[in-house]
Amino acid sequence: MASKHEISTLFVTIFLLLILGSSGSPRKSMRSRRPCKEMVFYFHDIIYNGKNSKNATSAIVGAPAWGNHTILAKYNHFGNLVVFDDPITLDNNLHSPPVGRAQGFYIYDQKDIFTAWLGFSFVFNSTAHKGSINFAGADPLMNKTRDISVIGGTGDFFMTRGIATIMTDSFEGEVYFRLRVDIKFYECW
Ligand SMILES: *[C@@H]1O[C@H](CO)[C@@H](O)[C@H](O)[C@H]1NC(C)=O
Ligand SMILES: *[C@@H]1O[C@H](CO)[C@@H](O)[C@H](O)[C@H]1NC(C)=O
Ligand SMILES: *[C@@H]1O[C@H](CO)[C@@H](O)[C@H](O)[C@H]1NC(C)=O
Ligand SMILES: *[C@@H]1O[C@H](CO)[C@@H](O)[C@H](O)[C@H]1NC(C)=O
Repeated sequence: MASKHEISTLFVTIFLLLILGSSGSPRKSMRSRRPCKEMVFYFHDIIYNGKNSKNATSAIVGAPAWGNHTILAKYNHFGNLVVFDDPITLDNNLHSPPVGRAQGFYIYDQKDIFTAWLGFSFVFNSTAHKGSINFAGADPLMNKTRDISVIGGTGDFFMTRGIATIMTDSFEGEVYFRLRVDIKFYECW
């Protein structure tokens, strides 16, 4: 038969295992995996093509030695840097009233496939939203949907973080494209 001492040692061991088991992964159990807020926007990029300087909302500002600032370069546009100030709308119509601006840049960063890297902000100054949402990440353009990071925000979006799923909603002859941005915030204040 087990002695009193052995039984109490057993209980202490079980107690310790229970404590360790429940605190093994505190971050996972404390963080919610469901978004605290979701928003959908569209933004519209009209690329300068040598003829539309008044209408264009984006411009090639960097090109490799084999390219120029009018036409995106060969080899999947590798080395091009484009700066944009694009209208944001709530639906997919370019002529809908803009609710804000998408401002930033994209760089084409692979020679053998069509990929880009995005860094931009949604800037809002309306009665509905004031402040900004900041985005960054790799954009593998050949994928139907791409996830990029929501790395922060200001104003109504103070300290927010999440994931934005981007989808090319329309693409017209390297002059116009429209992106649908499905934002899921996982940290809200
Ligand atoms: C501006 O560009 C868009 C997209 O290519 C086009 O639909 C629109 O007609 C253009 N507007 C003007 C005034 O040229
Ligand atoms: C820019 O490069 C393209 C070919 O990539 C060429 O067709 C076009 O004429 C060039 N434009 C200028 C202004 O050099
Ligand atoms: C935001 O809009 C208000 C009212 O139209 C204006 O006074 C203010 O200057 C704007 N702020 C920015 C940063 O554009
Ligand atoms: C691209 O899409 C494929 C399937 O369509 C998926 O397996 C892959 O993870 C995606 N890649 C990225 C970087 O989103």
